[in-house]
Amino acid sequence: MTFLGTQDLSADADGIAKAADLLRQGLLVAFPTETVYGLGGDARNGEAVAAIYEAKGRPSFNPLIAHVASTETAKRFVEWNDQADRLTHTFWPGPLTLVLPLRAGHGISSLVTAGLDTLAVRVPAHPTARALLAAFDGPVAAPSANPSGQISPTTAAHVRAGLEGRIAAILDDGPCGVGLESTIIGLAEAPALLRPGGIALEQIEEVLQTELHHHQPGDLLTAPGQLQSHYAPDAPVRLNAQAIQGAEVLLGFGPVACDLNLSECSNLAEAAANLFAALHTLNETGRPIAVSPIPDHGLGAAINDRLRRAAAPRD
Ligand code: TXA
Ligand code: MG
Repeated sequence: MTFLGTQDLSADADGIAKAADLLRQGLLVAFPTETVYGLGGDARNGEAVAAIYEAKGRPSFNPLIAHVASTETAKRFVEWNDQADRLTHTFWPGPLTLVLPLRAGHGISSLVTAGLDTLAVRVPAHPTARALLAAFDGPVAAPSANPSGQISPTTAAHVRAGLEGRIAAILDDGPCGVGLESTIIGLAEAPALLRPGGIALEQIEEVLQTELHHHQPGDLLTAPGQLQSHYAPDAPVRLNAQAIQGAEVLLGFGPVACDLNLSECSNLAEAAANLFAALHTLNETGRPIAVSPIPDHGLGAAINDRLRRAAAPRD
């Protein structure tokens, strides 16, 4: 579907009501969450979900996350368990996605699950996302609102640059606070880390009182549909750089001389919040990007996961 223009909606009662109305019509609306902007469509409407894949230019039907307004709503769609209870008491609403078995009569389009018998669900914390989900009163399928393979959007301007003319509207509520996508935990079998993200693995393990199955750093086989090359700027990206080479620009971390610093005081949460906007900005220079070493604990694990994908060989 092509639109003459993509409407800008402000995050007030009127804008949220309009956005919910567009979703009810099966149209696509980008909306802010605390992690990144999502590209939302009605998760029960196969045509709306197909339009999400089309707008992003996704190469295949990878499963999507269903966003809902509350834990009670999530329980209508998936089989709940004790571990889900513990994690959601601590981290919902927030940047945590759980993969659980689908419940009978769930009504979710099979394009959302890519035919799997599990569903990824999340209750976001962002007040505008929550207001939209409450007004729409149904599950919203939403991948990050960027063309497939490109850097995730943390502002409405990023969304517009990537998807202008391909979606009905953008609900604009400023920059996203967390800046990294949600942590995805599989609970359909033994608890497993499927994607590092906005909540550190260490915190999840503390709540579950168990070590999670997870892949080693550098092993990129995790949730289905996570492409190795992803979050990719146009220019090459080189990691763990102590100094620049040739025409490179340096994305710094900590007290280093650089073109742009993720966090001068070496704060990983600040670095996470700045990561995608910094990649967008440096990408505009057209020069190769070198990145300072980033510690691999806490949110650093998710930052390094995204950076490895940005630096991975492209097809
Ligand atoms: O923070 C986020 O999670 C953002 C915001 C918009 O909520 N959304 C997001 O969606 O990152 P997306 O589509 O870019 O990533 C969804 C990930 C994919 O890697 C997919 O493989 C995984 O979730 N996933 C979805 N359903 C799954 C399932 N049933 N089993 C395993 N992994 C699943
Ligand atoms: Mg994405």
